Amino acid sequence: MIGGASAQTVDPAVRAYREALSDKDGNPGVLIVEQGAALFKKPDGPKNVSLEKCDFGLGPGVLKGAYAQMPRYMSDTGRVEDLETRLLHCMVTLQGKDPQMIKDQRFANETKHERNTDWEKIVAYIAAQSDGMKLSMPTSHPLERQAIAVGERIFFTNIGPLDFSCATCHAEDGKRIRLQSLANLTDPKQAQNVMGAWPTYRVSHSAVRTMQHRMWDCMWQMRLPDVDLGSPATVALIAYMTKKADGATLDLPGMRR
Ligand code: HEC
Repeated sequence: MIGGASAQTVDPAVRAYREALSDKDGNPGVLIVEQGAALFKKPDGPKNVSLEKCDFGLGPGVLKGAYAQMPRYMSDTGRVEDLETRLLHCMVTLQGKDPQMIKDQRFANETKHERNTDWEKIVAYIAAQSDGMKLSMPTSHPLERQAIAVGERIFFTNIGPLDFSCATCHAEDGKRIRLQSLANLTDPKQAQNVMGAWPTYRVSHSAVRTMQHRMWDCMWQMRLPDVDLGSPATVALIAYMTKKADGATLDLPGMRR
């Protein structure tokens, strides 16, 4: 379902554009994934090692299916991590990189027409190794269940100068801002539609975007200060949305307007 508008009310040109967007053969994100693969395997950072030994929860170096089971509790750090929080951890511990430098270069600035950053490419590559699999965040650890509960609480809490919550924009069917239809993320079907398609190639940005970027962007829409990459609040929100979307088939990289 597209933003609550019935088929008759959607302009045929817009409909054709949307159909074209779901054609993976024409998804430029596939190229970004390939570039990410090369970066992932390249020795880098002060320690000059690749990311190939990074453990995304299924063991060092196991990428296949790892993203489909994140966020998850990581025993070595003792916390719940989404893909990007884990990647940050590996870049710092394995490669010896400075976390602030990574954060400063995480997202390409679309108003300056920048191309994808290495960060976005690597995230897209790791996630794509779960393409076609079903989203299934583990919940056996109490901190995983806590993250989901905290994420739900944040989702419905009004904060910031506009007194918005995520739910202000994402808890009803058929809401829109200008032309953009807003997904109702409290509805499992719509949540599956969304979470199965991230990281996603955004046509309007000509770039692949990650879920941490989406969190930053939506918090900016709420006029909140820049949220820190991998902050517990973002991980909790991602955990809540991922659980809501449980069972979604990942179609990666996704494509969005
Ligand atoms: C002021 C309205 C607003 C608020 C509040 C808001 N968002 Fe969004 N959200 C948007 C817009 C606009 C988009 C992009 C829609 C588009 O481009 O088609 C979006 C997109 C998203 C998406 C991707 C949807 C998709 O179709 O792939 C997710 C996930 C999301 N928001 C989560 C959140 C979360 C979590 C919060 C709370 C931290 C939040 N949003 C708060 C307006 C909002």
